[in-house]
Amino acid sequence: QPDARHAPLAQIPPGIACARDYELLCEHFIPAPTLAYLAGGAGHDRTRDANLAAFDDWTIWPRLLRDVTHGHTRLALAGAELSHPFLLAPVAFQKLVHPGAETETARAAAALGACLVASTLSSAPLEDIATANADGRRWFQLYFQPERAATQALARRAEAAGYEALVVTLDAAIRLPSLSALRAGFVMPADCAAGNLQTLAASAEAFPAAPPGQSRIFQGAMRAAPGWADLDWLRSETRLPVWVKGVLHPDDAADCRARGIAGVIVSNHGGRALDGAPASLAALPGVRAAVGADYPLLFDGGIRSGGDAFKALALGANAVLVGRLQVWALSVAGALGVAHVLKLLREELEACMAQAGCATLADIGPHCLAAAHEPL
Ligand code: FNR
Repeated sequence: QPDARHAPLAQIPPGIACARDYELLCEHFIPAPTLAYLAGGAGHDRTRDANLAAFDDWTIWPRLLRDVTHGHTRLALAGAELSHPFLLAPVAFQKLVHPGAETETARAAAALGACLVASTLSSAPLEDIATANADGRRWFQLYFQPERAATQALARRAEAAGYEALVVTLDAAIRLPSLSALRAGFVMPADCAAGNLQTLAASAEAFPAAPPGQSRIFQGAMRAAPGWADLDWLRSETRLPVWVKGVLHPDDAADCRARGIAGVIVSNHGGRALDGAPASLAALPGVRAAVGADYPLLFDGGIRSGGDAFKALALGANAVLVGRLQVWALSVAGALGVAHVLKLLREELEACMAQAGCATLADIGPHCLAAAHEPL
């Protein structure tokens, strides 16, 4: 029985009052099994849910009588000037929710001045995404391939297509399927196969196979997982700065800095990697402390509002990435929806900054927050 849903709209729907409203609306646009796949975390969704709950551990001090009329949300990040601190996180297989897939997202990113991080597992080829992104800022999220030549080929293509950094995601060597997606009977459609890769078909997120009698984890998935030598090799191979995504432990972050990694993204893959890992927000202060004040540090996991972004910035992030919200908006209204969600997030952040007495991102710090469960 086909699951009847609305086709994506060609306009921003009425009645959207905040960025998170797209989460409510997208149920009418995404078939239930697909929604289960996109929304799901790994295992029992503990880390996915913890990502959201962690924002409730902090409250924001309102501050009075400050002049913020010269305020703005600009920042310098990795040598680039950005007008606001929202990036679009790499999210695979966007054709699942819109026929234009990542080219829609890329257009929205360029229009709203948001840096786009395109996934290795995009439905559209990275060159098409670059064309749609035009003179926007874009980074390429790189998954190490089983063969170095294939990894190198992806890096070369990203360089040629105007991507300004490589973001190596390291927390997803083992892809445990979402239990809710399994229970909902989700199957990746054949036409959503990874547009950048010939060998990796639509089953990219499925559990790996292993030779008979061997562990599907240790001799299967982990055999292809990269190590420090591979990261060092990649850095020597490319002229682009190399970032690492998926850092939670402070020691891993410090190692990245010491080994010449350009910056790290505190992330647990939106709760889709190790179920039971700390919430991203809970890990953030320790990572900032480990790398020092001047090291580029991005954050993702559970950002649903400008106020959430404020808390992440206060706890040490230079900027934040938006994962699922981007997909919900894409499903509802394509590029317009993604642009709208970025605009709403920025306005929500500005309102939060103004009420907290912060005129610029540099004014936002731990002093702006109070722990919710401790006496003030
Ligand atoms: C992801 N994420 C992800 N990360 C990555 O490095 N490469 C990828 O291909 C994908 N694919 C992907 C697909 C889907 C459906 C989701 C929900 C997430 C993780 C993503 O970049 C980001 O870390 C999280 O989505 C952030 O959490 P929120 O914003 O979704 O709560």
